[in-house]
Amino acid sequence: MTEARQPDHPINSLFVDRWSPRAFTGEPIAKPMLLSLLEAARWAPSAYNAQPWRFIYAQRETLSWEPIFATLVEFNQGWAQHAAALVVIVSARQAVFPGQTDAAPNAWHSFDAGAAWASIAFQATLAGWSAHGMAGFDADRLRKAAGIPDTYALETVLAIGKHGDKALLAEGLRAREMPNGRLPLTQLAAEGRFTFSE
Ligand SMILES: Cc1cc2nc3c(=O)[nH]c(=O)nc-3n(C[C@H](O)[C@H](O)[C@H](O)COP(=O)(O)O)c2cc1C
Repeated sequence: MTEARQPDHPINSLFVDRWSPRAFTGEPIAKPMLLSLLEAARWAPSAYNAQPWRFIYAQRETLSWEPIFATLVEFNQGWAQHAAALVVIVSARQAVFPGQTDAAPNAWHSFDAGAAWASIAFQATLAGWSAHGMAGFDADRLRKAAGIPDTYALETVLAIGKHGDKALLAEGLRAREMPNGRLPLTQLAAEGRFTFSE
């Protein structure tokens, strides 16, 4: 555990051991392992158990990789080129809620997709892999490249890979390649009322 990752209260080490490296070794990920990470996400909680998440995956050595990789911004392409897989997470904007027959807007689709992402990241850590979320992609291009309809929100693209030595990175990125810290819990949690600065 690094200096920056000392919890304020006791927790399982999994929560501080997970972080988002950029130095990937290029080692390929076997399909069963990739599906095992997505399986963890399948069991995430969601409002009304609507399960709004969908995952579009591409292993680097397959033809599925390039169209998705090409939509990443240049900065992300620089390091994600050595990832083993990309996973696009999208979420259904509407759901059919219990007792209803028609689909209605689901206010929690992104919140629930976030739970799914966290499950992938924690399962990856447990399995000796790393998952790194990316907001840096061209949304319109990605929609076209992966055939994603407007009824689904684009949440994020994950780079999944085997973490390696920071020497694998371009020089400018090496200094940032370490687990970062967090705000203290005292700034994040308050009893009974919103007492945080606005
Ligand atoms: C939704 C989301 C989008 C992110 N986008 C990028 C990105 O485009 N490029 C990048 O290098 N890191 C990206 N990150 C990584 C964050 O900077 C990182 O998760 C954050 O600094 C916390 O660090 P940790 O994940 O190592 O604990 C993203 C993370 C998330 C969850």
